[in-house]
Amino acid sequence: MTTKEKLLELLEANRGIYFSGENIAQKLSISRTSVWKAVKLLRNEGYSIDAVTNKGYSLSNKTDILSAQGIQKYLRSEIESWNIAVLPTVTSTNALVREKANAGEAEGYVILSDEQKVGRGRKGRNFFSPKGTGIYMSILLRPELYSPEQSVRITTMAAVAMCEAIEAVSGVEAKIKWVNDIFVHGKKVCGILTEGSFDMESGLMEYAVLGVGVNLYEPANGFPDELKEIAGTVLKERRNDVKNRLASEFLNRFYSYYSDYEDTEYVSKYRNRSFVIGKRISVLSANSSRTALALDVDDECHLQVKYEDGKEENLSSGEISIQI
Ligand code: BTN
Repeated sequence: MTTKEKLLELLEANRGIYFSGENIAQKLSISRTSVWKAVKLLRNEGYSIDAVTNKGYSLSNKTDILSAQGIQKYLRSEIESWNIAVLPTVTSTNALVREKANAGEAEGYVILSDEQKVGRGRKGRNFFSPKGTGIYMSILLRPELYSPEQSVRITTMAAVAMCEAIEAVSGVEAKIKWVNDIFVHGKKVCGILTEGSFDMESGLMEYAVLGVGVNLYEPANGFPDELKEIAGTVLKERRNDVKNRLASEFLNRFYSYYSDYEDTEYVSKYRNRSFVIGKRISVLSANSSRTALALDVDDECHLQVKYEDGKEENLSSGEISIQI
């Protein structure tokens, strides 16, 4: 860890508390000049560090910057050892974590970023990932004994965990549009993309990269025209330390579902948060669209639909839109 990172760890773990330069120097076994330099570096990155005569330095509660240190302080003990990297700008966090996965990285490798230049969405689409207003995060998982059919569980657990995390930090209700979009106030605020690699012989999953992108605040220049009608944000105004809290709330909650393979409680939670059930929908495929009624979500998180001709189907993946 660099001196700057050590100082950030100390200040993040004690927001609002003052430490004298001498005290910090002692704690980190560095000189007072190094303390001052590290404070300057953090301020240049946007950290609001108050300095008061006879009291010292303190990280202001106002600071809302994603950092590994800021996330780790909130993590439950089982995942404290996860390897968390926060990068200012990336191509795609999913692409980077996949590279790591292919190189043999262990479960629990997480990349977060403030901006993606080529954020990936489902069906080969782009995911709009502007700087500073969202959280773009990918997690490397190596689940044992997951078949391709079971891999949908990861996305489902993530959707429930993200709704709960959003509610915990913002107080606003979050709903799920099958299969993996999170909506707040009727607009999409989060998308989830799980990419996997399977062993051809056993048919089991080698790894999964779970990617989630959240629109936390309104982008500086608004959403592009093609997204204006559908995309929304979790919050209308800036709040203190929301990014680190949302990321860690999500990781903690996701892990609690993921680590207990037998417990399928998340399925009923998913069902209860669905705002699709009972609605008239269009089931979309490459070049057609069929009207159906969304009946229910089954225990495997398949969407049960009834078409206009009376035929029923359990959809395991795909795209739907809600008819108004
Ligand atoms: C969708 O709504 O189509 C899924 C969007 C998934 C976006 C996230 S952002 C973090 C991760 N990295 C990516 O390139 N995509 C996912």
